Amino acid sequence: MKKTNIFDCFVLELNKHHSNRKGNISVVENGLTVPFDVRRVYYIYDVPGGECRGGHAHKDLYQLIIAASGSFDVVVDDGQSKKIVSLNRPYHGLLVVPGIWRELVNFSSGSVCLVLASELYDKEDYIYDYQTFLNYKKCLN
Ligand code: TYD
Repeated sequence: MKKTNIFDCFVLELNKHHSNRKGNISVVENGLTVPFDVRRVYYIYDVPGGECRGGHAHKDLYQLIIAASGSFDVVVDDGQSKKIVSLNRPYHGLLVVPGIWRELVNFSSGSVCLVLASELYDKEDYIYDYQTFLNYKKCLN
C-alpha cells in the first residue's frame, strides 16, 4: 500500500459537451482524462435510502468515482484526517488513491455511482477492517 493522504484525493472536472436541447455528453479517455489506466468499470445503483456503501480501503487500486446520476457523499479517510466530498454533477469525478478508507453515504433516490478502476477485481486488494487499515497506515509511517 502506498503512503497517501486525503489531499491526494480530489475532484477532477471532466469535459462536458453541450448539445443545444439534446443534452450533454462527458467523455473519459484512457491516458488523457484520468491519471491511471482504466481496467474495470462498475456502477452502483438501487441503493436503498440511508444505506452506506464502501466501508473499506484498497492497497493498490486507483478509482475515479462519478455521480453519473443523482448525488451522494464520499467520506475519504487516511487514518489521520477525513473529508467529505459531495458528488452531484455527472462531469465531476473524485480521484481516490490507494490507502484511503472510503464510505459512500447519502445516496439520493435513483442515483447511479459510476466507478472507473485501475485494476481488475481482486478481493486480496481490499482491507475491510478499520483497525487493520490503521495498522497498515502506521507501518508506512
Ligand atoms: P464491494 O466492493 O464490497 O461493494 P461496495 O464497496 O460498493 O459496497 O462489492 C460488493 C460485491 O460485489 C462483493 O460481493 C464483490 C462483488 N464485486 C465484484 O464481483 N466485482 C467488482 O468489480 C466489484 C466492485 C464488486
